[in-house]
Amino acid sequence: CGIVGYIGHRRADPILVEGLLRLEYRGYDSAGLAVAERGKLKVTKTAGRVHELRDLVGDGSPATAGVAHTRWATHGKPTDVNAHPHLDSGKHVAVVHNGIVENAEQLRAELTDGGVDLVSETDSEALAHLISQAIDNGAESLEAAVRSVLHRVEGTYGLLVVDVRHPDQLVVARNGSPIVLGVGDGEMYVASDLAALVRHTQRVVHLDDGELATVRADDYRTSTLQARRTDKTATVVDVADDDYQLGGYPDFMQKEMHEQPEAMRSALRGRLDERFSTAHLGGLGLDPRQLRSIQRVKFLGCGSAYYAGQVGANLVEEFARIPADAEPASEFRYRNPVVDPNTLYVAISQSGETIDTLATVQELKRKGGQVIGAVNVVGSAIARECGSGIFLHAGPEVSVASTKAVTNMTVSFAMLALLLGRVRDLSVAHGKRIVEGLASLPDHLTSILDAQQDVADAARKYTDAQRMFFIGRVRGWPIAREGAQKLKEISYVHAEAYQASELKHGPLALIDPTMPSVVLVPDDELLSKNIGTMEQIKARGGPVIAVTNAEIPDGLADTVIRVPHSEPELDPILFTIPLQLFGYHLAAALGRDIDKPRNLAKSVTVE
Ligand code: G6P
Repeated sequence: CGIVGYIGHRRADPILVEGLLRLEYRGYDSAGLAVAERGKLKVTKTAGRVHELRDLVGDGSPATAGVAHTRWATHGKPTDVNAHPHLDSGKHVAVVHNGIVENAEQLRAELTDGGVDLVSETDSEALAHLISQAIDNGAESLEAAVRSVLHRVEGTYGLLVVDVRHPDQLVVARNGSPIVLGVGDGEMYVASDLAALVRHTQRVVHLDDGELATVRADDYRTSTLQARRTDKTATVVDVADDDYQLGGYPDFMQKEMHEQPEAMRSALRGRLDERFSTAHLGGLGLDPRQLRSIQRVKFLGCGSAYYAGQVGANLVEEFARIPADAEPASEFRYRNPVVDPNTLYVAISQSGETIDTLATVQELKRKGGQVIGAVNVVGSAIARECGSGIFLHAGPEVSVASTKAVTNMTVSFAMLALLLGRVRDLSVAHGKRIVEGLASLPDHLTSILDAQQDVADAARKYTDAQRMFFIGRVRGWPIAREGAQKLKEISYVHAEAYQASELKHGPLALIDPTMPSVVLVPDDELLSKNIGTMEQIKARGGPVIAVTNAEIPDGLADTVIRVPHSEPELDPILFTIPLQLFGYHLAAALGRDIDKPRNLAKSVTVE
């Protein structure tokens, strides 16, 4: 979900709507806003997209303070009534809320018993009533009222409150769901994400968990839930509004796929050491002795970040010869994992805000685990919680389907694996080959993107398919999973990834002429095995789409997507790109809303 707030000397409506448009990738089930106009709240909300809200707001109001929200439904369906902001019965207080109030049932029941009429099904509405009651009961300020209510709330929140009885201020609070303040000139902004702010200001204040702020047009005061002042100063962020503009591309996914060569150059810059055939990752804060003491590496992330972690685990085992694996952070946090002090845990997240990954980091720290971040957004919760790690340097990513951030995850893990290898028994010659291979990857990415039309033509042949296999072996397996994920999320075609070796143990039964298989065929020591896999599929009448940089027998594949040659260990990094393009063009041919796939959101800050 996305939150925007404004208080200053300009009309709030257009600023709020504009801010919401930039946050739509955070959720787009419904949208709404409330402004404080001459002692009254003016509220507009809709179960539609932000542009529908913009039409409803029309010329808007002269009010210069307000709050706004774009929603990704958790409690209650995406309806007009369930859209934020939520108000108290007296219509004095409006709240917008990200996160989940876990004791909402209890709070709602208490309010209903006290005669309050709840109009929505949401957990957030209760907060508006409770804050208003606290003011009626004599709270000395809006902040004091919000603080007293938050003492009773279990769960997570990014919360923004406006009260017509205190029209010169907004109150915000954060616990587990991001809130950033933007400092302007006689005006202040609030948002759940920099995207909504950087058009107006680069001076920002990140709230920490357990922190509140009272925001006025010309100042802000931060404090803890226990009312201790925290006196935060603003920092200047290196993110510009252009990063959130389409810049001539039809959608953000296309734009971000094209940014990959440059994004990868940023990730590699200053990190490759040709002299010693290794990598420098200063952000890890680990010297060679500490690096050598690591006995195991575990990668943790959600969705595409988890698949990137699987690529990382394979690379660490190949280069450093220490055991490594990957696990979804969402699973890890709920079991009772053995936390080993000699394991390096890597928390992977583009946004740095995914709640399951953040909770994993906190659990690891509690149990004495050594955890680093692999995070794209500087200043994000996971980056700060980890304190050390590898920034991904992909630049802002807006498309729900992650592309350049995933690519930079995998290239960063190749460097981590190289570094771990070179303090163990990876030879200079092998290291040199990898350093050179990494340095040439961005140009290979460019050549894949230049041949986009071929992949588009290939994808369009399969628009009738209802289901598809993505088949990979060893290095290709996580790539198959990521490829299937991309296709699923943006085209809604059912896609399942399988290890090539496991096909014959069951899934081969599904092969028939209606079930195309995308088979990853890198030119490595397993080439003949993968050729065998294609033969097995072909023999059962299944269409084969080979993604390959090898010479494969004529007639074996119905469609061939070519990938340039690189070092075989680095093939997974390159093979990801044609699969992004394949998913993209199939979804585009089916007329899907590429940047806003149904039911999904870019970053999931709720459980
Ligand atoms: C959501 C997104 C995925 C993303 C995952 C992890 O599910 O839809 O595209 O891979 O979150 O996000 P993160 O920001 O932690 O990398």
